[in-house]
Amino acid sequence: MSVVPAESTAASRRQLLDSPFLAALAGKRPSRRPVWFMRQAGRSLPEYRALRAGRDMLETCLDPELVCEITLQPVRRHSVDAAILFSDIVVPLKTSGVGVVIKPGVGPVIDAPVRTRADIDALPSPSPEGLEPVGEAVGSLIAELGQTPLIGFAGAPFTLASYLVEGGPSKHHATTKALMAAEPETFAALLEKLADFTISFLKVQLAAGVDAVQVFDSWVGALTLADYRRHVLPHTQRVFAEISEFGVPGIHFGVNTGHLLGAMAESGARVIGADWRTPLTEAAKAVGPGFGLQGNLDPALLLAPRPALEAETRRVLAEADAALALGASGHVFNLGHGVLPETDPGALTAVVDLVHNQPVGE
Ligand code: CP3
Repeated sequence: MSVVPAESTAASRRQLLDSPFLAALAGKRPSRRPVWFMRQAGRSLPEYRALRAGRDMLETCLDPELVCEITLQPVRRHSVDAAILFSDIVVPLKTSGVGVVIKPGVGPVIDAPVRTRADIDALPSPSPEGLEPVGEAVGSLIAELGQTPLIGFAGAPFTLASYLVEGGPSKHHATTKALMAAEPETFAALLEKLADFTISFLKVQLAAGVDAVQVFDSWVGALTLADYRRHVLPHTQRVFAEISEFGVPGIHFGVNTGHLLGAMAESGARVIGADWRTPLTEAAKAVGPGFGLQGNLDPALLLAPRPALEAETRRVLAEADAALALGASGHVFNLGHGVLPETDPGALTAVVDLVHNQPVGE
């Protein structure tokens, strides 16, 4: 499959006029409350575990048939209002030649951490050709999904940088923050380069027809507002600016970002995801009127007995209504971060049913 230029696909992009998810993103009144879950595909589903058994994660991400099937599994099971492409934020690094593996139970691990100017200069440039299986999977999914929209995604430059600098998952992102403080120009060069990977990964998915994109800056909440504004926001702004020609709605999300939400709303995304710590009313005030909100049930609550889960779901919906009254342009129900692996999938289906059965807020 060749990578189709933006102009031709913008014209031919399918229009899902009745999609509650796309209506909410566009600030229109949806026919029902839209809901999907971060990490809705994956380990909570027995059918996923069966398919992945003995298969490497990154190889799975580059097998269009498997990507298609895994992406569809939660849509079939839960009747969520959107599918999210099954992939990973490190896929564009892998396909461009960066030494990275996903270790089961750990996450992405980098062969040679990137910590100096020379390390950064030695990084390859993004190679869209290597991402052809991803474009192919998106194309097949669009055909299979019918009226259900497909969300594409990428990791934001800071979150990618954290994996490259630390060499793997990290709790405190200390080496990354130390590099940012000690060598701001080196750090800027790294984020500049990683933004190119983010943009390239998103463009392959957009050219193949995804209906919305989410940019995950999962770990950016570790920064102060001042550091976020100075060292991160300009790069994220470039990401959203470079994909704006596609005319596709963008969502921006990170964990522990209560103090950053106002600044994240300057990224170019029209919808901001909040984790469970920040009430949606607070998020609405932080981002200001005219932005959509996504979130924010604590994923841990899916492990609670059903009455507690239902009460929390209703509380989030009431918060969302109050956020709309404060000027938020729409609400997409989601978790405050990804589905935990030990989650009973029945709890997810129950949340979808409950959300769909509540009247749409004003
Ligand atoms: O969770 C997030 O914050 C979203 C952003 C993100 C993704 N991958 C997107 C993703 C991040 C931070 C990663 C890195 C990563 N990759 C981790 C986290 C490690 C850490 O630092 O704590 C892990 C464990 C992986 C490996 C990985 N990615 C696995 C094993 C899977 C399969 C599904 C599962 O959860 O077991 C993934 C899939 C994945 N990564 C998706 C996304 C958006 C799948 C699509 C979906 O959301 O359903």
